[in-house]
Amino acid sequence: MSARLSSKARNNLQRQLLGWFREHRRDLPWRRSRDPYRIWVAEVMLQQTRIAAVIPYYDRFLDRFPRVEDLARARKTEVLKFWSGLGYYSRARNLHRAAKQVVAQQGGKFPRDLEAALNLPGIGSYMAAAVLSIAYDVPLAVLDGNVARVLARLGAIHGDLRAPQRWKELQEMAQRLLATESPSDWNQALMELGEVICTPQTPHCNACPVRKACRAYSLGITGAIPQPRKKRGPVVVKIAAAILRDPRGHTMLVRGPGAHDEVLFSRMWQFPAIEVKRNAKSELAAYLRGKLKIVCGGIEVLPEAHHRVTYRNITLLPYLVRVPAFPKLDGAKILRLAEVGRLPVSSATCKIVKAALTIP
Ligand code: ADE
Repeated sequence: MSARLSSKARNNLQRQLLGWFREHRRDLPWRRSRDPYRIWVAEVMLQQTRIAAVIPYYDRFLDRFPRVEDLARARKTEVLKFWSGLGYYSRARNLHRAAKQVVAQQGGKFPRDLEAALNLPGIGSYMAAAVLSIAYDVPLAVLDGNVARVLARLGAIHGDLRAPQRWKELQEMAQRLLATESPSDWNQALMELGEVICTPQTPHCNACPVRKACRAYSLGITGAIPQPRKKRGPVVVKIAAAILRDPRGHTMLVRGPGAHDEVLFSRMWQFPAIEVKRNAKSELAAYLRGKLKIVCGGIEVLPEAHHRVTYRNITLLPYLVRVPAFPKLDGAKILRLAEVGRLPVSSATCKIVKAALTIP
């Protein structure tokens, strides 16, 4: 589409969209500064998470780690604690490793150079373009799901936008359209348009500043673009978790032994848990006895909880397991239930704690 745009039409499009953005931009916390570190943290959090969910985490994270040096100096557990509940914990691990690298090798400044940025852990082409353009006005176009949808509608591009060849064409189109004198505002304007006007289901075309240039709008096909993605069917998983309790009212968290910690609990602290098939209670008891050498004094069913991670629909089956004492295990922590929130735990574990706190 943009190949067919004259430079006059492209300039008009840029002027209209930039004008709209400068008037309507939302006051988001990461837009209050041009500090590359703050922009970087925002982009990492926003990568798989909605803006509304990110904001409280972002504010807390930057209160605790206001500068890249603070993050680089922090212990991994502390960083994960401040990420706890946001999910996709490898983002936090990479951000932490990259912060150390930026401090050790780049004098504490996020690099301006694309190659150097791409060498940092967790930084791919989207992230590098986003941070470099937004913080330093480097003329690199960003392409994420929102921007791709906007561009596909502008150019009436059919088909699966994530198909490699089509994605590549969209990237080229994004780069051709980039307002090179204002890459920061331009990229954010496209994201903003995708988030508030050119929305997936019912785009608000009447409020769109660039509808005159939009081929999908003029053809009346905005609803058909982008083509819906073939969704992977949900995988239903049942996880039984043991909230062990000794006579002093302490419980035990582990990191590692649960068969599913890699996939479901992201190597965060968790209750001993296994995936179960038929009889959750007896399968869990057998696991505790066999693998953890735990003598169960009694097992009570607690209210179940539900959790979703991408295509997994997880039913969490928490059990209160009374034990005379805890086994001696490497990588185990003994603490009060009310103290669990002080450790880096996933949302699933928070849900189990909630169920457990119903115990009288
Ligand atoms: N989504 C991803 N990055 C964003 C940003 N900088 N502003 C708004 N939404 C975003």
